[in-house]
Amino acid sequence: MSADCRLPDGFVLHVFDRVESTNDEAKRLAEGGAASGQVLVAAEQTRGRGRYGRAWSSPPGNLYASVLLRPRRPVAHTAQISLVAGLAMAEAIERFGPADCRVTLKWPNDVLLGPAKTAGLLLESGGGPGRGRPWLVVGSGVNIVSFPEDVPYPATCLQREGFAPSPPPLALLEAYVWRLDDWLARWRRLGFGDVRQAWLARSPHLGQAIRLRLADEEVRGRFVDLTGTGALLLEEAGGGQREITAGDVFYGSS
Ligand code: BTN
Repeated sequence: MSADCRLPDGFVLHVFDRVESTNDEAKRLAEGGAASGQVLVAAEQTRGRGRYGRAWSSPPGNLYASVLLRPRRPVAHTAQISLVAGLAMAEAIERFGPADCRVTLKWPNDVLLGPAKTAGLLLESGGGPGRGRPWLVVGSGVNIVSFPEDVPYPATCLQREGFAPSPPPLALLEAYVWRLDDWLARWRRLGFGDVRQAWLARSPHLGQAIRLRLADEEVRGRFVDLTGTGALLLEEAGGGQREITAGDVFYGSS
């Protein structure tokens, strides 16, 4: 993988041919005291991870990257950063797409083309009182030239969706980190309001009936809003509202 990638000031690129997981490499750097802004990218991963410890298929040709941040705000803001990152990735992907391409977002951190997932984000955090400086790793996997067939949701890749030519992983990473830097600066300066608006504008599911699989139950209702912290606001059949901070969302009859 050639390191032809110009990142904004404050970001440092680490390029690997093959790692188990770029998130694990980033965590190692974080625990060793590395500064915010380390960007790790690998041509392939041998133990790529998705949310809830699921495997993330990671053959060559797609993007596998992790960004190390040292958030100054409490880790409770992680949900907001996850939406910031999704937004940045949606905008980066759109830059390489056909003129009419519209990238949408599925809460909490899936990036979709049409109904199918083309990218996912995995945020992991650590440190804090007695455990060193807090860190947050924002991992992203983008299906550029291939996607897994054996997943329980519709999946796709940029090449299949008419991205011709499909972007080299490092070009997509460069675009993403610039958008991430821009959105993070806006979020730090102005708070969550703009991010929330921009995120909702990319949600085809707002107002729709959804099914949510939580840690120990399944709930149904209507996705009515994002709260001020980035949680999903669910309106249940009885009219009551419930704030959901983690879970898998299913739409329509899926
Ligand atoms: C998901 O949708 O479940 C999240 C997928 C995140 C995958 C990326 S690939 C780069 C980074 N390293 C990992 O092991 N996982 C994330």
